[in-house]
Amino acid sequence: MKKLALVLILLGVFLLVLSNFVLSQEKPKTEQKAFKYIGTFKCKLCHNTPQKGKVYDWWAAEKHSKAYGTLANEQSKNIAKGMGIADAQKSEKCLVCHVTGYNAPAAQKDVKYSMVEGVTCEACHGPGEAYQAMKYMKDPILAAKEAGLIKPTNEVCITCHNKKSPTYKAFKFEEAVKLIKHGPPPPVKAS
Ligand code: HEC
Ligand code: HEC
Ligand code: HEC
Ligand code: HEC
Repeated sequence: MKKLALVLILLGVFLLVLSNFVLSQEKPKTEQKAFKYIGTFKCKLCHNTPQKGKVYDWWAAEKHSKAYGTLANEQSKNIAKGMGIADAQKSEKCLVCHVTGYNAPAAQKDVKYSMVEGVTCEACHGPGEAYQAMKYMKDPILAAKEAGLIKPTNEVCITCHNKKSPTYKAFKFEEAVKLIKHGPPPPVKAS
């Protein structure tokens, strides 16, 4: 009797391990396809008219677009020196947050991608290869579902705005978002 119980237990354990294995193999792919980073050139073509709030010009004048350049200034040189880094513009320790998609594989970077552009649209909205097509741009819900358009929530910001930043300043999403407000102006109400 005891032997049978032992065999049954062992069989149970075996089935449990097996089913876990099978499940792990069949896990639905929740990860999205790795779309390419295409740089700001395409976005500028469509997002720089007055009706669209001249979003590109806003970004080009705003600090995220300067983030790579910042790594060459005096403050950066001092920070780098203190950390034993020879050149902040060449160090992963700085580039991970001062350019777009630094750790993405080379295959995910289009020829138009350049680190020099700093923290671009795609750092917040996701790599644009697919969603920049009009079919998706006119349907943000579909774009998010199929083409990798990201809604820039707090989680997106704090991948960079966190205590690993040597100059970290407390980050409050609601306030920070107001400081980077852009996008098409609200429609003018007919009076
Ligand atoms: C072919 C033109 C075109 C290109 C290229 C393009 N967009 Fe758009 N985009 C649009 C249009 C049209 C809309 C619809 C809303 C509007 O009229 O502003 C839109 C909407 C958006 C929205 C708002 C989505 C929402 O939730 O309402 C975001 C964000 C956006 N684009 C980002 C980008 C980024 C980033 C790029 C470059 C990677 C890009 N777009 C390239 C035409 C374009
Ligand atoms: C890829 C990293 C990265 C992401 C993602 C990111 N930021 Fe930043 N942010 C930076 C860096 C780097 C700077 C400093 C740039 C500089 O001064 O050179 C900065 C600066 C800022 C500033 C100060 C700009 C100014 O004009 O004073 C604000 C506000 C800000 N970010 C808000 C946000 C918000 C809100 C989000 C999310 C929607 C976000 N950031 C996402 C890296 C990032
Ligand atoms: C974890 C992400 C992250 C890393 C890593 C990082 N930074 Fe930054 N950096 C930021 C963010 C976000 C800001 C803007 C606000 C802040 O300081 O929190 C910023 C701002 C700066 C500023 C401007 C500060 C100011 O007061 O205007 C300098 C200079 C700077 N970083 C240099 C560096 C150097 C040099 C390195 C590498 C040794 C580095 N950063 C690494 C995220 C990062
Ligand atoms: C630092 C992060 C960040 C960067 C860089 C950035 N955006 Fe945004 N963008 C946001 C956030 C946050 C919103 C507000 C989203 C919301 O209200 O849901 C937004 C809103 C928008 C909207 C309006 C969406 C709407 O619902 O009306 C458009 C269009 C847009 N961004 C395009 C761009 C383009 C084009 C660029 C580059 C030239 C760019 N963004 C750069 C974070 C960013």
